[in-house]
Amino acid sequence: MPKILVVDDEAANRVTLERILRREGWEVVQAPDGRQALELVRTQGADVVVSDLNMPGMSGLELLRATREVSPDIEFVVMTAYGTVETAVEAMKDGAYDFVTKPLKRRELVNTLRKALEKRGLILENKRLRKALEQAPSQSVVGSSPAMRQVMEELQQVAPSDASILLDGESGTGKSLMARLIHERSMRSGGRLITVNCAAIPEALLESELFGHEAGAFTGAIARKQGRFDLARSGTLFLDEVTEMPLSVQVKLLRVLQEGEYERVGGTQTLQADVRVLAATNRNIQEEVAAGRFREDLYYRLNVIQLRVPALRERPEDIPLLAAHFLGHYAEKNRKDIRGLTPETLDMLSAYRWPGNVRELENAIERAVVLSRKDLVEPEQLPPAVRQGKGGRPQLTFTVGTPIKLVERRMIEETLRHTDGDKTLTANLLGITARTIYRREAEWKQEQELT
Ligand SMILES: Nc1ncnc2c1ncn2[C@@H]1O[C@H](COP(=O)(O)OP(=O)(O)OP(=O)(O)O)[C@@H](O)[C@H]1O
Ligand SMILES: [Mg+2]
Repeated sequence: MPKILVVDDEAANRVTLERILRREGWEVVQAPDGRQALELVRTQGADVVVSDLNMPGMSGLELLRATREVSPDIEFVVMTAYGTVETAVEAMKDGAYDFVTKPLKRRELVNTLRKALEKRGLILENKRLRKALEQAPSQSVVGSSPAMRQVMEELQQVAPSDASILLDGESGTGKSLMARLIHERSMRSGGRLITVNCAAIPEALLESELFGHEAGAFTGAIARKQGRFDLARSGTLFLDEVTEMPLSVQVKLLRVLQEGEYERVGGTQTLQADVRVLAATNRNIQEEVAAGRFREDLYYRLNVIQLRVPALRERPEDIPLLAAHFLGHYAEKNRKDIRGLTPETLDMLSAYRWPGNVRELENAIERAVVLSRKDLVEPEQLPPAVRQGKGGRPQLTFTVGTPIKLVERRMIEETLRHTDGDKTLTANLLGITARTIYRREAEWKQEQELT
């Protein structure tokens, strides 16, 4: 129920007003002066304050200003006698919603208050929406394959902690998307997520990008510059392509992670780091460590928790879901009436290896949507690589009576050829475990040796 606070030093006026406003179904509270009114605003709030201007003690104008300090969202309507319209105008300049003149006309008063309530409702609704928008995940992670479910489950568990997380997976698998999700589900979601792409920033600049620099630290450093560690304060710092970080910067990063302290380039002041660090790589980071290109101690620091994002070909079950998701998204974006994919199109998508993973699939669908003139996407709209490449699955034919063992062997061998020897993918496509494939291969080898 909307709540109106009536402020007037004349008791008779308050009683009349209360009676009128209650008839509208509004809750009414009243105060005889500014001081008590302010106290009510503080303790129980109100939607609209309707106040006399000339009162002993705190004037209506002073009450308006004080109320806006305490609760800027409360709408304010002033009542004024004919002689004081000037003051009413001043009140409007100070943020009052409107004024009504005395002697009050019931209709005018009720209408004004109704509009003030409406405005307040809109403002609150907007605020609520904006907040919901800020809190809503920027983008949903699609996927229901066991592999994806496991990653998402782990993500849920580790997101709220402050531990460093290393996201590991091929290009385009969704690492950046997950980094955002981790940030949004962490205690640091109120702070910013700052991304540093270590491969995109020239080596010589990376240190000052990360830690900032003081004026005159090096040629070209004209003014003091904040680093990404400063910008990410009380938020999350996402180091993308972390293996591309030069060893000289790795040392400095290690120190921040170990001691929580850093200095700007050319600076002497020691700053406290207040960030959670996420890192991602699409390289085999252990190989980088073995080759001496990545510090082992830093690797252990970053790798407190590791999330491996599986390649798309390891979870072909997700392809139809992702395709539908992107189709919906790009159809809307391009204002096209597309209902779905033909079965042949879906078959091709499912058979393709997707070396570029989800990003490649997303691009393929976007392209198809743009090209499509019918309500179903047809194979012709898929990129050539998907259509011909290793796309169309070869067929195998067997005569009736072929021993099952032989059918199985040919099927596994052909599927392996089709997947470039990817045993996980082959197993997924055939609905068996990779272990079975290894076992069969051993058996075939043994048979060969026997004959
Ligand atoms: N599970 C998913 N559901 C929906 N969209 C996804 C999913 N995974 C990835 N995407 C989308 O695919 C694209 C590529 O994902 P992203 O940029 O996160 O990959 P990445 O692993 O960070 O790649 P790179 O290693 O090249 O940086 C993005 O547009 C992302 O929104
Ligand atoms: Mg990325």
